Amino acid sequence: MKGESCNINDKRKSCCSQSDQIENKNLKEHWDNVYKNSPEEKLGWYETDLSPTLSLISKTDLNKTARILNVGAGSTTLIDELLNIGYPNLIATDLSEVALNKLENRLSTDKVKFIVDDLTNPTNLKNIAPVDLWIDRAVLHFFTEKNEQDIYFDLLKNKVKNNGFVLLAQFNLNGATVCSGLPVHRYSKKMLIEKLGSNFALIDSFDYTYIMPSRAERPYIYTLFKLIN
Ligand SMILES: C[S@@+](CC[C@H](N)C(=O)[O-])C[C@H]1O[C@@H](n2cnc3c(N)ncnc32)[C@H](O)[C@@H]1O
Repeated sequence: MKGESCNINDKRKSCCSQSDQIENKNLKEHWDNVYKNSPEEKLGWYETDLSPTLSLISKTDLNKTARILNVGAGSTTLIDELLNIGYPNLIATDLSEVALNKLENRLSTDKVKFIVDDLTNPTNLKNIAPVDLWIDRAVLHFFTEKNEQDIYFDLLKNKVKNNGFVLLAQFNLNGATVCSGLPVHRYSKKMLIEKLGSNFALIDSFDYTYIMPSRAERPYIYTLFKLIN
């Protein structure tokens, strides 16, 4: 796939980071290069304020032994914060081994399991035990093909425990159309409700404008669902 060029100062193109054009179909290599070539704090999704995610996690009332899976975790600061507030049973998964190595080296803990896998062609993830909370910030929206989305939601529905939770934070319909040189599929609350189906009850949702390290704005939809069947 040839990605669109991605100038972060061009408001119309609305990208997430100053990634080069993608010259090949190898998305794993693409993401590895993104994490190799940029300091974490310059990534277009780097967070210092995790309050939108933490406010939704607090609504789950899960106890601290809950199994929490962060999909497409990259090198996110969310894992540091979850450890800080006392969750010792975490799984971070990503397509990029480089990203997960960065995270693992930074954290240096046995409280997090690291799994390199592709959410659109899962292998290792198929074998994990179900989780109490599935967290995805800024990953699902990269799956632009229906079959990729179907595989993602099949895995999610197989891996979330009954009475477990799903926290999805994706570009909303006013959000960027390109991120990291890749096209994205944007979501509304209604679209996420439809994708999850009637077994998942919407607990909370809100729009949130994330400010990138470049100071550009990126509007997200945050949602929290509970599996009720
Ligand atoms: C915009 S970053 C968000 C990272 C992290 N969730 C955060 O909020 O900091 C998107 C992440 O999705 C990962 N990713 C992209 N495609 C993936 C796939 N098919 N399977 C698993 N992870 C994927 C990338 O490697 C990258 O770490």
